[in-house]
Amino acid sequence: MSMIDFEEILKNINASLKSKKLYPVGHPATLTPLKKTFTQLTEVLQDKKSFALAIVNEALVVEDDLIEDSETLYPDLLENMAAMNVDAIVFERGLKEDEITKAVDLLGGEPLQGDSLVKAVEAAGITHITLKSIPVGKRNVLEIYNDAVGAIVDVMDEIRMGKIPKAEPVNSIVDEMTTAVFEDANAIMGLTMIKNYDNYLFNHSVNVSILCLSLAKAMGLSQHEIHCAGVGGLLHDVGKTGVSEDIIRKPGGLSSEEWEKIKEHPTMGSKIVNKMEKMDALIENMVLAHHVKYDCSGYPNVTDKVHPLTQIVTISDAYDALTTLRVYQKPQDPVEAVKLMMTLSGRHFDPATLKTFVDMVGLYPVGTMLRLATGETAIVIKGNPDNAPCPVVKVVHDEDGNTLDDPIEVDLREDPDRNIVATVNPATANIELADFFENEARESDK
Ligand SMILES: [Fe+2]
Ligand SMILES: [Fe+2]
Repeated sequence: MSMIDFEEILKNINASLKSKKLYPVGHPATLTPLKKTFTQLTEVLQDKKSFALAIVNEALVVEDDLIEDSETLYPDLLENMAAMNVDAIVFERGLKEDEITKAVDLLGGEPLQGDSLVKAVEAAGITHITLKSIPVGKRNVLEIYNDAVGAIVDVMDEIRMGKIPKAEPVNSIVDEMTTAVFEDANAIMGLTMIKNYDNYLFNHSVNVSILCLSLAKAMGLSQHEIHCAGVGGLLHDVGKTGVSEDIIRKPGGLSSEEWEKIKEHPTMGSKIVNKMEKMDALIENMVLAHHVKYDCSGYPNVTDKVHPLTQIVTISDAYDALTTLRVYQKPQDPVEAVKLMMTLSGRHFDPATLKTFVDMVGLYPVGTMLRLATGETAIVIKGNPDNAPCPVVKVVHDEDGNTLDDPIEVDLREDPDRNIVATVNPATANIELADFFENEARESDK
């Protein structure tokens, strides 16, 4: 079978989907291309047991061949597949004509996804055609991270335009991050090491949200409380939209007036959250009180109204801020940050919550850079809960400081020669942690 025939099949499926939008059910403009599709597929399926077309990087792939210009040539097919999250369509030998008609009806109809699509295929009695979807939960963590940045950018834009931000996108991205934290916390925690200075406030908000979700999970909280912690973390600094950029980015000391302005952000933030639809009072409290310390110092002066779970945001916020390079502060490496925070246990931070946090990030948090006894430099990618001093790392520089194109993964439990000698401050090391974890996220998706 030649490529031309494959493209004929795509052309006919696309034509019937397009006609479905323009003509009533059963119109020849829809049925004629379907009949042709059936004849062609039957022929193809004499040689092979199944025939698949798929979307790869937004282009159509038939069997193993990428179809050039598929976006221009078969827009309706691509659009309908995307609307239903269908990544591949597989036709099998034994295919009947009415199965094609019904499958195209489904594809061109109301967008259904996941389970509802599977049920609809079953109900239609389609057994020789599979509409395959990559489960939503399997989305690349980097995509989820970037969508979360997009969500907080949108929220802040809406606030600047004087609108009340929409709650739905915030809730749904937090649900996705929650799934990611439960499936593979290391992968998404690694992304919190992306300390993008230009977008400090956005990345910081997403990082804090991820840390809050992981901490809430480690504390064994309910689904609802975990969700609140994630949303609280994402929105904790939205009140900063009311503080001018110059003040937020100002290097060096702030005047007392400027400082007063900054101190308004929790109150302003909680007022915004209060106006958003269906936001739990706990979330509002987390935003209002994230700078109130365990010993009741801090701001604003609302200590009598602070919910104990607010400490989740306070601790996650402090950790992310400490490990980030700021105009007025050199970043601490994660190990140093944890040590510093421990000295503030019982003063800034609730000891029990802080203990859970420290156990969660581990002795060497994901993203810590290490100098090994071999002279190599490595980055922690996963803790070993049974043996905290020996995490799983990727060696990124050899003993001469040369960057390895292909970092080597080593479980330090199994390699006594590669003892940890010291932690390395990423600010002084010749590596872009963000690039490293972005690559990791892509790798793990393969
Ligand atoms: Fe804040
Ligand atoms: Fe913050």
